[in-house]
Amino acid sequence: MSNYHIKNLEEYFQVYRKSVRNPTHFWEEIAEENFLWRKSWDSVMTWDKAKSKVTWFEGAQLNITENCIDRHLISKGNQTAILFEPNSTDEPAQHITYHQLHERVNQMANVLKAKGVQKGDRVCIYLPMIPELAIALLACARIGAIHSVVFAGFSSTALASRINDSDCKLVITSDGSYRGSKTIDLKGIVDEALSNCACVEKVLVVKRIHTEIPMQAGRDEWIQPLLDEASMVCAPTIMEAEDPLFILYTSGSTGKPKGMVHTTAGYMVNSAYTFKNVFQYRNNDVYWCTADIGWITGHSYIVYGPLANGATTIMFEGVPTYPDCGRFWEIIAKHKVTQFYTAPTAIRALAKESLDMVNKHDLSSLKVIGSVGEPINEEAWHWYNDNIGKGKSPLVDTWWQTETGAIMISPIPFATPTIPTYATLPLPGIQPALMGDNEDELIGNQVEGKLCIKHPWPSMARTIWNNHKRYQETYFSAYKDMYFTGDGALRNSVGFYRITGRVDDVIIVSGHNLGTAPIEDAINEHPAIAESAIVGFPHDIKGSALYGYISLKNTGESRSHENLKIEINQLITERIGPIAKLDKIQFTEALPKTRSGKIMRRILRKIAAGEFDQLGDISTLLNPEVVKSIIKNVV
Ligand code: WTA
Repeated sequence: MSNYHIKNLEEYFQVYRKSVRNPTHFWEEIAEENFLWRKSWDSVMTWDKAKSKVTWFEGAQLNITENCIDRHLISKGNQTAILFEPNSTDEPAQHITYHQLHERVNQMANVLKAKGVQKGDRVCIYLPMIPELAIALLACARIGAIHSVVFAGFSSTALASRINDSDCKLVITSDGSYRGSKTIDLKGIVDEALSNCACVEKVLVVKRIHTEIPMQAGRDEWIQPLLDEASMVCAPTIMEAEDPLFILYTSGSTGKPKGMVHTTAGYMVNSAYTFKNVFQYRNNDVYWCTADIGWITGHSYIVYGPLANGATTIMFEGVPTYPDCGRFWEIIAKHKVTQFYTAPTAIRALAKESLDMVNKHDLSSLKVIGSVGEPINEEAWHWYNDNIGKGKSPLVDTWWQTETGAIMISPIPFATPTIPTYATLPLPGIQPALMGDNEDELIGNQVEGKLCIKHPWPSMARTIWNNHKRYQETYFSAYKDMYFTGDGALRNSVGFYRITGRVDDVIIVSGHNLGTAPIEDAINEHPAIAESAIVGFPHDIKGSALYGYISLKNTGESRSHENLKIEINQLITERIGPIAKLDKIQFTEALPKTRSGKIMRRILRKIAAGEFDQLGDISTLLNPEVVKSIIKNVV
């Protein structure tokens, strides 16, 4: 029996039990049998608990692009590796074979080298969902440069802070991007960001929308002429197992975004293993994940996991509603997609449309459908399961995080039974624990607590870039020798897990993690604003949306609330990006506070959700009268 591909429930339990008895042996067998190593490891895993330092496969040498590309060339050279579906239905899809991918990655790697990029240097990638994005990641990995992809919906300020935090010396971007019927001036955003980034020496620009854009002499260059001249041969740089592969920023509940650092070997093994099992990928399948490569889902399950398995992976440039709300279903029919992986927010939006939009497309190629990014509510689960999966393609609700690098809790299709809203069972090698309020582990079933993971797994982020202390504090200080996820979960009577949502001040809006503190910081920059508090409230499509309570400075001047609302959302758009705009804004004289001066967010959350009868005891507040006036004026 190969540990690598689980086919039924009995096998799952067998493999799972084995993996828990001896996790290092479990992962070692997988690593040995399924990947190309230039040198084997000296130790499978080390874990310095006091320092929160973990290594996997230390001593091993490899290059992840050899595993994702070169080793498939003989058997699958002419198979499509990346299938690009453009924004416009008038533009033909592009099939990039493994051979072509190999050539294009090598060319881009050679261009990066020629621009002075060396092993260990950071390269920022700010691109739309076009093939050059995946190629840029792989080109960095080819030469050992560390990529830091910034989602192309982030603002120039957010981009600049990420570039500066990891000292990127080169940026790859495009003249612009297509998004449905709109175009976005990406290069303009980069130019604005770079006025505050001294570390960047070069900007390479992909031509996508063919607009006239300013190019700064000495700094900016069109990439295509350089690629055309570059050699298609580029020997992979041999990397150590624990060399960083990439940095990816995620929001924390406080402070600036955290640059999560993922390393090479463990990430490769874990992302590939989970891809194979969670999607039950077989030769000739056509797999499609609708995420953006700007997020971890795209890194692990559009690029690395699928390519390490020699899969055909679709990259979609557009949006689900363009040219109409049937676009997803049309693409599934057009390319005979076998595995489809998307987010609950997209499902909720599309479920609002007429079923004709679905039913006019042939979805019979589908074998597995998946969900990721936030809890999927029961109604959305049923709609997705019944109308897209047709009750025959198992729906895998996959729980994981930027920090975990790979899927942690998920059904294995055709093995694990699926239940609405349950991520079900941990994948082999993963040991979840639920913790009670007294830092005790909740044993047995029918319990609910904070979700932790007990033993290291290969794709866990190793640190926060330049801030190991914050890494330790955020993930390893709440519970002894356990990784704390920041999520709550329950385990039902048969041991299945259901994720109940964040237990910290991170709010997930349309699947995007947003910390409350950075949004409040942006708002508080407004000269008329004294204080603000952001909470999430339930939203039909976004899952959660943002509610801002704002108190104004007492300057004696009266200002139009309507104008202020516009200015607040403008500030947020500039500092973070449009995804963090507030749906509701309430102006209030003051915010409810404890006697020690802390804002009582719990009460503000209840009010925003309309649960006025569940505020609990408010008599101990410093200013209980404020609560009544907030309720009276609730938006
Ligand atoms: C949430 C995305 C419920 C969770 C891969 C987690 C989920 C955060 C699920 C990480 C799911 C992700 N069910 N909640 N299936 N998947 N989450 O870092 O709160 O963008 O902590 O990684 O999303 O979001 P991130």
